[in-house]
Amino acid sequence: MEFIKVTPQYQNHIALIELNRPKELNALNLQLMGELRDALKMLDAEDSVRVIVLTGNEKAFAAGADIKQMAGKSAIDMYLVDQFSTWDQIKKTKKPLIAAVSGFALGGGCELAMTCDMIIASETAKFGQPEIKIGVMPGAGGTQRLTKAIGKAKAMEMVLTGKFISAEEAERYGLVNRVVPVALYLEETMKLAKEIAEMSPIATRLAKEAVNRSFETSLEEGLQFERKNFYLLFASEDQKEGMNAFIEKRKADFKGR
Ligand code: HXC
Repeated sequence: MEFIKVTPQYQNHIALIELNRPKELNALNLQLMGELRDALKMLDAEDSVRVIVLTGNEKAFAAGADIKQMAGKSAIDMYLVDQFSTWDQIKKTKKPLIAAVSGFALGGGCELAMTCDMIIASETAKFGQPEIKIGVMPGAGGTQRLTKAIGKAKAMEMVLTGKFISAEEAERYGLVNRVVPVALYLEETMKLAKEIAEMSPIATRLAKEAVNRSFETSLEEGLQFERKNFYLLFASEDQKEGMNAFIEKRKADFKGR
C-alpha cells in the first residue's frame, strides 16, 4: 500500500487506517481510494478486528478528490473510470468505522468522513464541500449525507458557497460526535472504538445496519428491518453470554458468535 498505512491490531480488536499522502493533504486519488477499499474489505473479513478507525494527519484528514488527476478528464473518462463503485464498496463495510478528523476534511474528504459511522473531530478540523469553487459539485454523497446530517439550510449554504465550517460548528450542527483537543483526537477516537469493541461484534454490526437503514427506508420498513435483526441476535452465543452475564453480575465476554 503506497498511500495508506494499515495497522490491523493497533489496539486490541481495533484496526487503524491512516491516509498517507501528506504533501498533497491526503488528496484522494484513484489509487488511494482503491487501497482504502481493499484494506477495508480485508479488515472486514478479519475476525480479530471489531472496529476500524480511519484517520489522516493533524493538518488534513483529506482535502478532497485529487483535482490534478480530475482536471483534464471528460465526462466519458469519468464514467469509464467509475470511481464511485469504489465508494459504494467502502460504504458496504460491515464493521463500525470511525473517522478521526483533524485539519481539512473537504470535498471528497468530508464525504469520506461522512461515509464513516461516527466522526471525532479535533478542534482544528474544518469541514467543507468547496467543489462549487472549482466549477463542480459534490459527487460522493455530499449533497445527500450532509443534508441528512445537518439539515437543508446549512447544507445548502455550504454546498452553494463552498464555505468551511469549524469543528465547533460541526458539533453544534450534529455532523460530528464530539470535538477534542488536537493532541487527543486519535486517543479519544480509540476510547470510543474500545468501548464498541467490547460489545458483541455481531450485535454492533446488525445494529449499525439497522441505524443506516433508517436513512434509506420508511419508518415502517425500518422498524421491520430492526425487528428481524433483533430476532436474529437470539441465534447468537453472544446474546446468551450477554444476558447471563447480566444475571450473574459479571462482565460479558463476547466472542462474536
Ligand atoms: C490535489 C491538492 C488538493 C486536492 C491540496 N492539494 N488539495 N492536490 N487535489 N484536492 C495540494 C496542493 O496542490 C499543494 O500541492 C499541496 O496539496 C498543499 O496545498 P496548499 O493549497 O498549498 O495548502 P494550503 O495553502 O494550506 O491550503 C489548503 C487548502 C487548499 C485550503 C485545503 O489546498 C485547497 O483549497 N484544496 C482544495 C480543496 C478542494 O477544492 N477540495 C475539493 C476537491 S473536489 P503543490 O504541489 O501545489 O504544492 C472533490 C470532489 C469529490 O473532492 C467528488 C467525489 C470523489
